[in-house]
Amino acid sequence: AIDPQFETNREKVGEENGVAVWGPVEPPEKLGIHGTHVAVDFDICLADGACLEDCPVDVFTWVDTPDHPESDIKAEPTHEDQCIDCMLCVDVCPVDAIDVDPG
Ligand code: SF4
Ligand code: F3S
Repeated sequence: AIDPQFETNREKVGEENGVAVWGPVEPPEKLGIHGTHVAVDFDICLADGACLEDCPVDVFTWVDTPDHPESDIKAEPTHEDQCIDCMLCVDVCPVDAIDVDPG
């Protein structure tokens, strides 16, 4: 599962698609955690798609991640600023790849 303390335990290494990326990042195998308010561990996401289907405000967008061992697309929280903290995505992700911090 995603580490809910990632902001303490990891370092921000850059930005992709308008969201922060928390390392370590070593493509194509290691892609880090993407997003902050809504965070997706790209190394755990296996492209189930429930988050995209169920998010009421369309926070997530598919992005290509060719040659990643789990899946070659991932759910990027491109519109995390729209999140209404309903926690649906956290509940439906089968591999607990998502952390939402209402802070
Ligand atoms: Fe969307 Fe709700 Fe998840 Fe926020 S908590 S990203 S609104 S499903
Ligand atoms: Fe990935 Fe979980 Fe969404 S596996 S596509 S973050 S439901």
